Amino acid sequence: MLEDLARIRASFEKELREAATLDALEHVRVAYLGRKGALASVFDTLKTLPPEERKHAGEEANQLRRDIETSLSEKRTLLELTERESALKKERLDVTRPGVRQERGHAHPLTKITREIIAIFSAMGFAVVEGPEAETEYYNFDALNIPPDHPARDMWDTFWISDPKGEDKTQNAKRKTGERLLLRTHTSPVQIRYMEAHQPPIQIIAPGRVYRYEATDASHDIQFMQIEGLMADKNISVANFKAVIQTFLSQLFETKIEMRLRPSYFPFTEPSFEVDISCTYCRGTGCSICKQSGWLELMGAGMVHPHVFKAAGWNPKTSKMIGDHFAGFAFGVGIDRLAMMKYKIPDIRLFRSGDLRFLKQF
Ligand code: PHE
Repeated sequence: MLEDLARIRASFEKELREAATLDALEHVRVAYLGRKGALASVFDTLKTLPPEERKHAGEEANQLRRDIETSLSEKRTLLELTERESALKKERLDVTRPGVRQERGHAHPLTKITREIIAIFSAMGFAVVEGPEAETEYYNFDALNIPPDHPARDMWDTFWISDPKGEDKTQNAKRKTGERLLLRTHTSPVQIRYMEAHQPPIQIIAPGRVYRYEATDASHDIQFMQIEGLMADKNISVANFKAVIQTFLSQLFETKIEMRLRPSYFPFTEPSFEVDISCTYCRGTGCSICKQSGWLELMGAGMVHPHVFKAAGWNPKTSKMIGDHFAGFAFGVGIDRLAMMKYKIPDIRLFRSGDLRFLKQF
């Protein structure tokens, strides 16, 4: 028995010396400590020995097992270290290899043109303000002199945050009339919000997203951008409006643009007008874009309705600030529309299509 142990020790030490990898070492471990390994059969034979012999041989066998365990774990630490070192050597960085070029993005065409528009109006003294996109019924409609039966309030034009008829049980349905939320259908509510918080004279633009619940086609989308303008002071007239818009258009299109005012109707302006510009595609000679008319509809505008001043808390009759000849003009222009005219983009839906072939052209 003791001779067997000596033999096992000798052959283990030899195999241990020869094991050069962690895999080889694992084989050695299984061969000696495994369930069918050399030591397992030693312990099996041990059971058959007479008791006086078994005690001594048992101690020796246990000692051998401990030695084997210690040697294996020492060697494992060593092999792990060398294997890690050689792996690190293989991973060396080749600093001369060319890098992977990062693709550079750029601002969206609508962002770009919005910045241009802001720059032009800023130079004329307009401040830039913003309002919420989830707006209350009051600011979007009531305060702008849009009565409850006005068609623009209809579900078909407006995205209500929930059913305006109160038929469902959501938070919004429980709100009072006027406080119900919707996705603003235009940037005009910013006029009210700004006038509530400021005193005349004022001169602002308010760019931002607006939403309309309608069928989409090449010139209509359910989401688009508008820029609102409002200027209110003593002696402001349509002449001031024309001068501001003429300057704006000439700078944006970098050429003199013909414009004309047509009478129109908006509940929050009186008088109201529609601004047309000479077709940027055919320069007014007539084409399919302008339906052979030579003119393109650009924006809605007008002189601020007295009800709107009142709704914002400015009373032309009683306010000391606001006396005779106090007036204001307001306008709302589609930014998408301006971008389409300036860059000759045929379909408004391209802006939000996420199509890189389109976006990379700007
Ligand atoms: N809010 C109007 C629209 O979206 C445009 C407008 C703004 C008209 C200001 C007059 C004055 O159609």
